[in-house]
Parts: sequence; C-alpha cells; structure tokens
Amino acid sequence: MHQTVHIALPGRAYDVRIGSGVLSGLAAEVKLLRAKSVGIVTDHQVGGLYLEQICEPLRAAGLIVGSVSVPAGEASKSFSELERVCDALLEMRLERGDVVVALGGGVVGDLAGFAAAILRRGVRFIQLPTSLLAQVDSSVGGKTGINSALGKNLIGAFHQPSLVLADTDVLATLSRREFAAGYAEILKCALVGDTDFFEFLENYRDHIFSGGAARGEAIARSVAFKGDIVVRDEKEQGDRALLNLGHTFGHALEVLSHYDSRVLIHGEAVAIGLVMAAEFSHHLGYVDAELGQRIKAHLRAVGLPATLADLKGAPRDLYNVDQLLGAMMQDKKVQDGAPTFILLKGIGQGFVARGVELDRVRTYLMHHIGQAHES
Ligand SMILES: NC(=O)c1ccc[n+]([C@@H]2O[C@H](COP(=O)([O-])OP(=O)(O)OC[C@H]3O[C@@H](n4cnc5c(N)ncnc54)[C@H](O)[C@@H]3O)[C@@H](O)[C@H]2O)c1
Ligand SMILES: [Zn+2]
Repeated sequence: MHQTVHIALPGRAYDVRIGSGVLSGLAAEVKLLRAKSVGIVTDHQVGGLYLEQICEPLRAAGLIVGSVSVPAGEASKSFSELERVCDALLEMRLERGDVVVALGGGVVGDLAGFAAAILRRGVRFIQLPTSLLAQVDSSVGGKTGINSALGKNLIGAFHQPSLVLADTDVLATLSRREFAAGYAEILKCALVGDTDFFEFLENYRDHIFSGGAARGEAIARSVAFKGDIVVRDEKEQGDRALLNLGHTFGHALEVLSHYDSRVLIHGEAVAIGLVMAAEFSHHLGYVDAELGQRIKAHLRAVGLPATLADLKGAPRDLYNVDQLLGAMMQDKKVQDGAPTFILLKGIGQGFVARGVELDRVRTYLMHHIGQAHES
C-alpha cells in the first residue's frame, strides 16, 4: 500500500511516494529519468543499514553506481564535506543527465541536494528520506544547503528533487527519540493549517508511533500540506513562512544549547516552540490558554518535551530572557529589527505576525520561565 503526493510546481513537478516498500521502485524510476549513472550520498549510519539494498537493484538494471558517505550528524553540513562529496561525484564521472541520490535524514538530503544544485551547474537528484523528519519535511520543497560558522543553513540553493521515495519500512531502525522529533513537525503542520488533521493526530498518535496504517497516512498528509504551501510560495515570500510555526522560539533554544544533541534535537526544540507559540498567541489575546495546555498534553503523551522545564541538563542561558531574546534576534526571520512570529488564532489557523513588539515577547518569556522554575 502506498500513496503518491504530486508536487505541482510548474516545470519542476515531481512525485513523493510514501509507504512500505516504495524503495523497490527506485531502479525503474531512474531508468525513466534516462540517467546512466547514479551517485549515492549517504551517512555512515544509514549507509551501513541500507546502501547495499539500494545499490544492488540499480546495478542489476544496468546502471553505473557509485557512493560517498559522510559522518552521521549535523556537522557534515559543512564546506569540507560538500567539497568531498562534489569531488567524489565528479570522480564517478556523473554527467548532466545523471542523478544524485540522497539516502538518509535531513542532513544528507540538504547536503546532497546542494551538491546536486552546484555540480556541473545543476544535476537532478532523488531524495530517499530515511528519518521521519526528512520524510515529512526536509525532502520536500527544494531547500538545500549547508551551515556556515555564522549560522545554520546560511549557504544554500533552491533545487527541487525529481522524485522522493519515502519508504516507511526504514523507519523501523530509527531511534524513538528521532522518530518523536519528526512527529513534532507533523503536529506543526496540523496546528498551523489543518484542524481535521490535528484531530486525526489526537486520535491516532499511538498508532502512528507503533507503526500502523495511520503512520503512512500522517506522513502523506504532512507532505501534501507542505507541498501545497510550496507550490503557492516556493521561495518563501509569503505563506511558506507558516511552516516556521514554533521555529522562532525553537531556533533560539537550539542556539543557546549550542546544538548539543544531548540537550535537545531540532524536533524537540520545535515541540517546545509550538507550546511557546500557542502560549504567546494567548498572551497577545488571540487564543484561550487551553490551546497551549492541549498541545503540551499531546507532546508529553508521545514523550516529547513540552516546556523548558522538561529539558534535562540544559545550560542556564536557556532560562535567561535576555539570552533568549538575543538568540531570536539572530534568526534568519528577523526583518527590520523585529523577529517574525507565526502565531495562532486557533487550531489550524496560523498566521504570520511581523513587527511584534519586543516588550511583549519579553513579558511572555518572563512568564514562561517563571513557570519553568516553579514546576
Ligand atoms: N531542507 C529543508 O526544507 C529542511 C527542513 C527541515 C529540516 N532540515 C534539515 O534537516 C536536518 C535534520 O534532519 P534529521 O532530523 O533527519 O537529522 P539527520 O539527518 O542527522 O538524522 C538523524 C539521525 O538519524 C539517523 N538515521 C536517519 N535515518 C535512519 C534510519 N532509517 N535508521 C537509523 N538511523 C537513521 C542518522 O544517521 C542521524 O544520526 C537539519 O540539518 C535541518 O536543518 C531541512
Ligand atoms: Zn523544523
């Protein structure tokens, strides 16, 4: 059983196939693209698990297959790994008509996608997302790139994939913590724009975690939701910013924890950020206090942190209002000195709020941190 979501970008349309076993269709799809060589980019962890399974049918179909592997983790989104990957792909003699394949989580997808964007001024690429976060979020929409010493994702390009195969079978080897982190992005989609989906998640979250049919459904709905937004606003001039719900707060938490995965990983920062966005929306008078409580209960039920108080071993800076505000001001989404917030008028009713007064943010943060100290 699989589902296909079509991303209808004019001139760059592609399919996202989601479900058990969709990876087995890879060789036939590459043939359809008329490529002769395939350059696979992966990380050591995912490569160790799935590289052979991917390569073998490609070779059997008469394709020339090469691969390059980077260390697992965010540090691989660097200039040095990009250089190594590009050189490896060139050594494989990948030509303009060939394809790069990204096999891994969001790190590999962003890095390989960017390599494909700049290799010979652009070759096609296929995303084989293996983390839940990559399946529901990073593999779709064409944002690719690496980090700079000055910040995350500051070097990159828009380069849409030619195909995405999100095989739910590979999620079996993903850690529960990484799975939950990806789930936070699913919840984000529902919260920002789809009331029915939010209710679906409240009803089926346990099935999604245990791997039932609801899992594929939740992934497909998230992809369709993101795909719609990307088609409306590929380059994030407007609506695409809605996908940043929870991210202005979340990003500040990531910066202040120095991206230390022992303290928190991206999806966990987003989880807390979703609660903060709901609480801040309440603080500004847009929603009842109940919404924040409802999201908190949902997150905790699946084992995600919901407030700063839920984090273990976080640096003190994380509980300092000035540090938090400072970190928010470094965000990419700051315009004319004011951070952009995605706020809620209700479930499924996110909106972009520009020019929110910093004093309002400050009083809200003092309130949230006060609560964190009490509990
Ligand atoms: N391009 C976009 O639109 C976009 C959107 C959101 C996030 N991102 C980026 O995505 C990255 C985060 O992605 P991520 O959370 O997938 O991190 P990741 O790629 O580091 O993967 C997390 C960990 O899980 C492992 N892993 C992945 N799939 C596995 C599997 N099936 N079995 C066992 N282990 C597996 C990886 O080796 C890694 O150690 C960040 O760099 C972020 O900036 C990009
Ligand atoms: Zn995110």
